[in-house]
Amino acid sequence: MDFDIKDPSLAPKGLDRIEWADQSMPVLRLIRERFEKEKPLKGVRVAACLHVTTETANLARTLKAGGAELRICASNPLSTQDDTAASLVKDFEIPVFAIRGEDNETYYAHLHSALETGPQITMDDGADLVSAILSDKKEFIPGIMGSTEETTTGIIRLRSMAEDKVLRFPVISVNDADTKHLFDNRYGTGQSTLDGIIRATNLLLAGSRFVVVGYGWCGRGVAMRARGMGAHVVVCEVEAVRALEAIMDGFQVMPIGEAAKVGKIFVTLTGNKNVIRREHFEVMLDGAVVANSGHFNVELDIPGLEALSKQKRTVREHLEEYLLPDGRHIYLLAEGRLINLAAAEGHPASVMDMSFANQALSAEYLVKHHGELKPQVYVVPPEIDQEIARLKLSAMGVQIDELTDEQETYMASWAEGT
Ligand code: ADE
Repeated sequence: MDFDIKDPSLAPKGLDRIEWADQSMPVLRLIRERFEKEKPLKGVRVAACLHVTTETANLARTLKAGGAELRICASNPLSTQDDTAASLVKDFEIPVFAIRGEDNETYYAHLHSALETGPQITMDDGADLVSAILSDKKEFIPGIMGSTEETTTGIIRLRSMAEDKVLRFPVISVNDADTKHLFDNRYGTGQSTLDGIIRATNLLLAGSRFVVVGYGWCGRGVAMRARGMGAHVVVCEVEAVRALEAIMDGFQVMPIGEAAKVGKIFVTLTGNKNVIRREHFEVMLDGAVVANSGHFNVELDIPGLEALSKQKRTVREHLEEYLLPDGRHIYLLAEGRLINLAAAEGHPASVMDMSFANQALSAEYLVKHHGELKPQVYVVPPEIDQEIARLKLSAMGVQIDELTDEQETYMASWAEGT
């Protein structure tokens, strides 16, 4: 079997951690048990470009149980858990091409290794597989049933491909499922981003001024959790409704140019580029700590920070100190890579359970329905979303009410008023 990982001898540790995560992934486990019997992905070649974590390993097991011929590469050079990759190869016989800390060239070589067998389904977290296929692996296009996409940034890229008419196969936006973004983006990012910042710095959040740039679902989650730890949270936004929402959620809102002067800890979660730029680094307080939790590190103008600084040193793992000419220090976490996966372990398994249940069921849906779909970005069918919510509630032992017949009739009628 073809693979490229750091060290196969790490497999036992990886397996223990994969099984531990699996205990918090009951929905995915149920799907895996059904896939085992029904083999809905039998013989389907799947290339997955995802963060190689214990949670992803449980998705990989599920796809394989469904009969998929799977190859995996990393969706970020710093997020791979090498023990997980080793276990996937040794214990589950799944070809993995991912090494934590790989350089850009290796990252793309791995991406091409995952594509090598001509996938019928691609599974992306950031749209790198789709863009590689559309730019230099066009020969694979006719064989592709479709693709699934995990994250907001990927969806933005894919929607602009569809708009420019360059997208050539259907894509299912897992990110748009309610059982994905309402939980993974909000509670997953909320917890794992703080986890990453704390692991990298061991700073006390209580009483510190904590600047959240971007108030989408991820930003909302981080702001909410930072407040829960006692930070004074400032939100920066470009969109008026979101800014208003942040205010009514009880946060202070101001432009980044102002927040830059008062913040202690900064996190970007916008999906955009150069959100914190040289002009902002120039006015930061001595000791300011800057992190990114968006998909790409372009949210921070790192070249601008480098140009501004006269010296740089590593203080501790994932913590780089930049010395400015006037003696101030700015601290950059995890090279500006997504902090929750670079310095911590990503979202907890319990939320990834729902995200990856959406991935598995969307792959099954593509196999069944690709003939009916156009080269567009589709949302996850609502029946799948609802089913995942029902299964999750049931795994939690939570029961909910049903409408009475009278209520159903009332809701369907326009005749009854006051
Ligand atoms: N994205 C965020 N957290 C993740 C995790 N734990 N596994 C895979 N992808 C993720």
